[in-house]
Amino acid sequence: MVKKNFWLILLFLFFAPALCGAAENTCLRCHEQLKGPAHKAAGHNFADWKKSAHAEKGILCQACHGGNPGTMDPVKAHQGVLPSQNKNSSVHFQKIPETCGRCHVEEFTEFRKSVHHKMLQRSGKGPNCLTCHGAMATFVLTASDLERTCSLCHGKPTQAAKALSAILSLKNFLNVYQKNLPKDEKERAAMFQKRYQKIQQEWHSFDVVFVIAESEKLMKEIKAAMDRKPRKGP
Ligand code: HEC
Ligand code: HEC
Ligand code: HEC
Ligand code: HEC
Ligand code: HEC
Repeated sequence: MVKKNFWLILLFLFFAPALCGAAENTCLRCHEQLKGPAHKAAGHNFADWKKSAHAEKGILCQACHGGNPGTMDPVKAHQGVLPSQNKNSSVHFQKIPETCGRCHVEEFTEFRKSVHHKMLQRSGKGPNCLTCHGAMATFVLTASDLERTCSLCHGKPTQAAKALSAILSLKNFLNVYQKNLPKDEKERAAMFQKRYQKIQQEWHSFDVVFVIAESEKLMKEIKAAMDRKPRKGP
């Protein structure tokens, strides 16, 4: 037992610099200083990454771009890092859903079910994750921008704007409900949260009819729960 622990500790000491090495990441060290056109032209720049949810959770450059974050030699560091225009790049628009989907499994699973995914693979046309989230997921499109994007191809309205409004109102509503939650309400709150996440995932298969109906239904139930319980605070 002790012996086993000894080896574990040794193993940990060996890998610790790699595990805790955010400060040592050479992609960050070098790119933080760059101010060239390549850092403005496409997708995102260092500052976008820095203020994103990804940076906050320690998702570093190599998670999406590949490369070797342990060397300051630019050739070695960029081994496998290809510009997004290159068809083999992990951030080429046809590869993006797959790259993001390595972590966002549910969203990708739903997205794969859609006609759009097939279109994207076949003809290169169709929305991908960036269409709505941007390269650094620092935003979600507004309802009117979204509808405009969809109507590039769809002659008649897709109800995307309505679905987006529905899911965003639901989210706000859920936030209000979750504040000052009485103790005996925790279980139901967890169930509501789960159902909200399910709707969020389902959105990615473009089943707008389901998103609208379920969002409205869940909102009613949350409202009923709020009315039923005498609540603390405002
Ligand atoms: C020693 C400095 C340095 C290091 C280390 C470095 N980069 Fe770069 N990177 C650059 C420069 C310089 C460019 C080119 C910018 C330009 O052309 O203006 C670049 C370009 C890129 C591009 C654009 C690709 C292209 O061909 O257009 C990506 C993506 C990128 N780096 C990612 C990374 C990742 C991921 C790492 C770590 C694994 C990394 N870089 C490490 C300096 C560095
Ligand atoms: C969550 C995934 C993700 C992370 C993390 C990420 N990038 Fe990107 N990056 C992308 C995507 C996707 C594009 C392509 C944008 C587009 O096509 O508009 C891109 C584009 C770029 C570009 C423009 C060149 C090109 O190939 O289009 C550079 C340079 C770049 N990233 C550098 C970095 C650096 C440096 C970091 C770390 C500080 C980083 N990226 C972190 C996803 C990511
Ligand atoms: C290496 C894993 C990884 C990859 C690859 C990745 N993400 Fe993320 N993403 C995360 C984590 C971790 C979070 C933090 C939130 C969480 O815990 O789910 C996150 C958060 C998000 C969010 C929520 C943002 C917010 O403000 O709350 C969106 C949207 C998102 N990612 C989209 C993308 C897109 C689009 C790509 C591909 C360009 C991508 N992700 C690639 C791990 C990843
Ligand atoms: C048509 C627009 C659209 C496309 C395309 C899209 N998303 Fe989303 N995504 C949304 C909307 C809208 C939400 C819900 C936002 C909310 O509830 O705040 C969302 C939510 C998410 C979340 C959860 C964010 C959170 O706050 O927890 C993740 C992660 C995510 N998307 C990843 C992806 C990935 C990966 C892809 C590509 C496979 C993708 N999305 C494609 C619109 C889109
Ligand atoms: C580049 C073109 C293009 C864009 C952009 C686009 N679509 Fe589509 N979409 C299609 C095509 C083609 C089909 C398959 C034929 C059909 O059903 O009309 C399709 C099918 C659908 C379907 C039927 C569901 C399915 O998977 O069979 C829905 C719903 C849908 N799109 C919603 C949207 C929404 C919402 C947006 C905006 C986020 C959007 N589309 C953006 C081209 C596009």
